[in-house]
Amino acid sequence: MTRVRTDLFVSLDGYTSTTDNTPSNPMGVDWGRLTKAHTGTRTFRERVFGDTSGAGTTGVDDTYVASFFEGAGAEIMGAGMFGLHAFPDDPDWKGWWGDRPPFGTPVYVLTHTAPRPPITMEGGTTFHFRTGPIEDVLAEATEAAGGLDVRVGGGVGTARDFLRAGLVDQLHLTVAPIVLGRGTRLWDDLSGLDRTHTVTTEVAESGTIHVTFTR
Ligand SMILES: NC(=O)c1ccc[n+]([C@@H]2O[C@H](COP(=O)([O-])OP(=O)(O)OC[C@H]3O[C@@H](n4cnc5c(N)ncnc54)[C@H](OP(=O)(O)O)[C@@H]3O)[C@@H](O)[C@H]2O)c1
Repeated sequence: MTRVRTDLFVSLDGYTSTTDNTPSNPMGVDWGRLTKAHTGTRTFRERVFGDTSGAGTTGVDDTYVASFFEGAGAEIMGAGMFGLHAFPDDPDWKGWWGDRPPFGTPVYVLTHTAPRPPITMEGGTTFHFRTGPIEDVLAEATEAAGGLDVRVGGGVGTARDFLRAGLVDQLHLTVAPIVLGRGTRLWDDLSGLDRTHTVTTEVAESGTIHVTFTR
C-alpha cells in the first residue's frame, strides 16, 4: 500500500532552514552542520556522488539514509526545493539536482508558474510541474508510484502543507544536535502529530536523534 513519507532535517530547537547563507557560500555553514550526519554516510556518498570507495560512516545514520532511498515510486517537491525561485526566468533551468538526479522516479514540482513541459533527466527522473491542490497532485503521484511510496521531499513550506492537511503517513526527522537560534520553524501552528502517529526515537553514534512518526 502506498504511504506518504517525508524526511526532514531539524535542529534541536526546531529549525528546518538556516540563515547564514552568503553569495560565496549559498548553503551556509549551518546547512552543512544540519545535514552532516546524513551526507557523511556511506550510502549517501554512493547514491548521490557515485562514490563506490566504501568511504563514509556506517551504523544507525546510514541505516536511515538507506531506507530514505528505498521504496519510493514518486516524489513531490515545492518550487523552492527544485530551484525555480533561484532562476525564475531561465526556461532551460533543470533544477539543482544535476544531470542524474537521485530520485529515479517521476517528481511532481508544485509551482504557480505551471504549465511547463516535463523535463526528462538521466536515471529515471522526470520532473512534472503542477499547480495544486496538493490532494490532486498527491493522487496523481500515488497513481504514478504504482504501489510504492510517495515521498514529499520538501522544502519546508511544502512539507508543512502536507503535514497540516494530515496527508503524511510517516515523518522521519533527523534531529542534529545543534542549536540554530533562528530560521524556519517546523512545528509552528502544527500540533497533534504525536496523537495521530506512533512516535519512535533512536540516537545514532553521531549524536543525531532519529524521530519517526508513523500512522
Ligand atoms: N530541513 C529540511 O529537511 C529541508 C529540506 C528541504 C528544504 N529545506 C529548506 O526549505 C527551504 C525551501 O522551502 P520553501 O518552503 O521555501 O520552498 P518549497 O516548499 O520547496 O516551495 C514552495 C513553493 O512551491 C510552490 N507551491 C507550493 N505549493 C503549491 C501549490 N499547492 N500549488 C502551486 N505551487 C505551489 C510555490 O512557488 P511559486 O508560487 O513560486 O510557484 C511556493 O512558494 C530552503 O530554506 C531549504 O533549505 C529544508
